[in-house]
Amino acid sequence: MADNGTATITLTLDGTNQSASLKLRAGTIGPSVADIRSLYNELGIFTFDPGYGGTAACESKITYIDGDAGVLLYRGYPIEQLAEHSTFLEVAHLLLNGELPNAAEKRLFEHGVLRHTMLHEQIRSFFNGFRRDAHPMAVLCGVVGAMSAFYHDSLDINDPEHRRISAFRLIAKVPTIAAWAFKYSIGQPFVYPRNDLGYAENLLYMMHAVPTEEYRVSPVLARALDLILILHADHEQNASTSTVRLAGSTGANPFACIAAGIASLWGPAHGGANEAVLKMLAEIGHAEQIPDFIRKVKDRNSSVRLMGFGHRVYKNYDPRAKIMQRTCHEVLGELGIKDDPLLDLAVELERVALHDEYFVSRKLYPNVDFYSGIILKAMGFPTSMFTALFAVARTVGWISQWKEMVEDPSQRIGRPRQLYTGAPRRDYLPLSARG
Ligand code: CMC
Repeated sequence: MADNGTATITLTLDGTNQSASLKLRAGTIGPSVADIRSLYNELGIFTFDPGYGGTAACESKITYIDGDAGVLLYRGYPIEQLAEHSTFLEVAHLLLNGELPNAAEKRLFEHGVLRHTMLHEQIRSFFNGFRRDAHPMAVLCGVVGAMSAFYHDSLDINDPEHRRISAFRLIAKVPTIAAWAFKYSIGQPFVYPRNDLGYAENLLYMMHAVPTEEYRVSPVLARALDLILILHADHEQNASTSTVRLAGSTGANPFACIAAGIASLWGPAHGGANEAVLKMLAEIGHAEQIPDFIRKVKDRNSSVRLMGFGHRVYKNYDPRAKIMQRTCHEVLGELGIKDDPLLDLAVELERVALHDEYFVSRKLYPNVDFYSGIILKAMGFPTSMFTALFAVARTVGWISQWKEMVEDPSQRIGRPRQLYTGAPRRDYLPLSARG
């Protein structure tokens, strides 16, 4: 890159005298990008990058990841510092507005979220339409999408005040929807949110309280859940965030966009991995079975993967996984669980994998989901709720990224192109002429 920050890449099409000059753009940190927007006009070719591994789909100021060094920054702040000193709502303010709040802003922001946790009462009836055994992610996806039918007064995406209110509504109400999805599945009455409780505290309360007795939320568990929410709040242009941006690029309302993000998060390669880790540990059952399981993972003919391991961007230890591992021990300590067979099995599985050439050579390390499931299980959450809790946290990242995109003057509808390898043009054959 030239000293003045300008540089170009010149591409020449072999065998022709056609060439294109692509401008290089430097970020604050991280790799520069080649601006390929003129490529089609100049050379008549597209770029090809299935899975977008080498493509920057947008410009963003929110989250930075250095996958080789294992670095994660929210608005420039290292995740380790935020995890140690901050709270989820403070991080939400940071992601959404770009700065940590001062004392007055913090009060105002917390008030905005914690006083809007109640759902429109008619939304209650939606839950009765689902089967009792519906997965909480199915319910979450449906009910969040349905929010667009209830909050008409904040759907104008071109009005900054509407965008602000929708963001508050989503951050405040998604925990209530998630908790009610759980209550519905176990046949218990819905527990209404309480304005005097903190964000994570309220979520624990709505999940675990029953009307027949007093429920006191453990401050240690509330802090642990708050920390888990911080670690999951945003993660650059991952699959679900890109889904939210793509849906939002059409001008769709924020509730519809977040519902699309929830659907994308559900898959086992993404947010569904924490649930899959526990299923995997249960299937392995005992440390003696680990070698056999690792053999299956390495077998090219099997589709078995070591869930909670590997990441598209991190080719080093996921910084969130390190914090998660520490928190796991703290939570089990608080709950008086001295020997947890699942944790012991996970630790041994991690040890074996980190010493195995297959995982070492492919730079496969534990990701955030490897330990989060064990903590959430110990806290009394059923496995089916794990991804829903991830969605609660990620709602903040999604809505921050959506807002950034809508406010970006260079934003256009997302419309990727393709390499077509199907049949060339051919003529319709009548049924009698088809072989
Ligand atoms: N177990 C076994 N082999 C693996 C794994 C794994 N978990 N992950 C990657 N590999 C192998 C893969 O088979 C391939 O090997 P080869 O080069 O011999 O064909 C190589 O590593 C590269 O894998 P890839 O599929 O090209 O990598 P990717 O960047 O497309 O996939 C991933 C990333 C996260 C989908 C994948 O690592 C995975 O499926 N992990 C398990 C699911 C998981 O834990 N997901 C949570 C991700 S973190 C939270 C989140 O994003 O929501």
